[in-house]
Amino acid sequence: MTLPIAQLGQPILRRETSPLTPDELMSPEFQAFVQAMRETLQEAGGVGLAAPQVFSEHRIFLARVGAPGPDGEPPPAELFINPTILAASEERVARWEGCLSFPELLVLVPRWRQIRLQYVDESGQTIERDLMDFPARVVQHEYDHLEGILTIDRAESTLHIIKASEAEAVFGSRSRSEPESQEPTED
Ligand code: NI
Repeated sequence: MTLPIAQLGQPILRRETSPLTPDELMSPEFQAFVQAMRETLQEAGGVGLAAPQVFSEHRIFLARVGAPGPDGEPPPAELFINPTILAASEERVARWEGCLSFPELLVLVPRWRQIRLQYVDESGQTIERDLMDFPARVVQHEYDHLEGILTIDRAESTLHIIKASEAEAVFGSRSRSEPESQEPTED
């Protein structure tokens, strides 16, 4: 079962989310919801999806941040529950990002190059994990969704918001990094 994806303007995208309790985490309702999120992400062909994007206030997101499979298949969509960013590098890097809640736009977003994230995984374990470059970017994008923050809020200039259809005219077909829409191009 796939879920409708909230589009820019829906109030749910601007609300803060609520942490899950261990009981909620193990409930069949929650498991079914996560499965529906997975199917929605799969169908959208994205690399990440946060609960508010499917009209939920749970503090969770899915993100494909592992290594690609041996045949180049995309990494699995991992579940991040009640995440907290514990630390971040000084260095920030700006890249163009897409978002499934407004796929018509690309936004140039500065993000920390490296972060340390704490979260609960699908089995209920608390994990601390260091992420760098594209995986760090995807996680920061999804984390922002849990705080009601969108890429357009992070743009340092309105010149850094463009229509995706005009991307080639603006910066050629290379050097795009698009959480939630496409595989990144290397620096
Ligand atoms: Ni997004």
